[in-house]
Amino acid sequence: MTARLAAHHSRFYASRAGFEQLKYRKGGINPIAVGAVAGGLLAGYLLFKTSGRSSETAKDYGTDWTKVDYNKVYKEIADLLEDDDYDDGSYGPIFVRLAWHASGTYDKHKRDGGSTGGTIRFHPEASHGGNAGLDVARNRLEVVKRNNPYISYGDLYTLAGVVAIQELGGPTIPWRPGRLESHSPKDCTPDGRLPDGSKGADHVREVFYRMGFDDQEITALIGAHALGRCHPDRSGFDGPWNASPTVFTNFFFTELINNEWVPKKWNGPFQYVDKATGQFMMLPADMAFLTDPKFRVYIEKYANDEQLFFKNFARAFSKLLSLGINFPKDAPTYEFKPIN
Ligand code: HEM
Repeated sequence: MTARLAAHHSRFYASRAGFEQLKYRKGGINPIAVGAVAGGLLAGYLLFKTSGRSSETAKDYGTDWTKVDYNKVYKEIADLLEDDDYDDGSYGPIFVRLAWHASGTYDKHKRDGGSTGGTIRFHPEASHGGNAGLDVARNRLEVVKRNNPYISYGDLYTLAGVVAIQELGGPTIPWRPGRLESHSPKDCTPDGRLPDGSKGADHVREVFYRMGFDDQEITALIGAHALGRCHPDRSGFDGPWNASPTVFTNFFFTELINNEWVPKKWNGPFQYVDKATGQFMMLPADMAFLTDPKFRVYIEKYANDEQLFFKNFARAFSKLLSLGINFPKDAPTYEFKPIN
């Protein structure tokens, strides 16, 4: 991580830890804190000094979670959800996917990745195959960043996921602000950390165990596939998982159990469709939850008890959005009231 987090000319971090300490330090440049972080940091500091910028100017490059009205931001995001001309009429599903892909790069062993920095907006991370199409969500949210410049992109993207889940009828998702802003593509996580839809249970476990989730949490999280659809021009797969892709329900589980799933006959990647209508789809990775006996226990629980699913999803999704975040001590946990 240290190598990738090189010093940047307008910020001063050589490691994520150094980054966080400096961001929350009050006042001007603290020589002790500066001295505490290694070589690259010093280079950045010198560059900054020679550039002749004052520390006041440098602050303009930053974000400040204490200066953001999150209830206002929540409302602004909620106002962006509906659009009859987009997909199934809502940006909610793609906001959820953005929040999850921004966060799901976390590696608990290396202790890097996750939503801090908001690095998903930079290339190469933005153009990783798994992130295809997420520019649509980021572009849609840009106006909120413009109206609320102190919010960090990590906070904006994760909060958009919270708003979407709640406004589409899902549970309350506890959320905390305070993710830091990265200004450098060098902070991007390497490709290959997000799950591959064409693979099975071993792969799914490997990816989610790396983030620190167990089988119950993984199964709760995949329930988000009640929302949205696959797009041939993004992932290559095609179709929604059920008939109400803009409402948060436990339908991923009920559809998975109650239908017969057959390979789709088409000139595209291998996937399943329901035998009766051919309208709904499952990825090979989704089907792994049906065939793997340990996942299946939870699939059945959530199919039979939507309240249990909502409760477990809220906990797991909140955890996902917090992976790797060193929240400022005084950052409160918000439980926003849904607007709709
Ligand atoms: C095994 C794990 C997972 C795999 C392999 C997977 C794969 C995919 C794929 C291939 C798509 C289609 C993208 C497109 O073509 O637009 C998709 C969409 C989506 N995924 Fe996942 N996903 C996984 C887990 C999750 C999780 C944990 C969440 C959230 C908690 C999530 C939320 C969504 C949503 C909401 C969409 C719909 C996006 C839209 O309608 O634009 N997925 N996923």
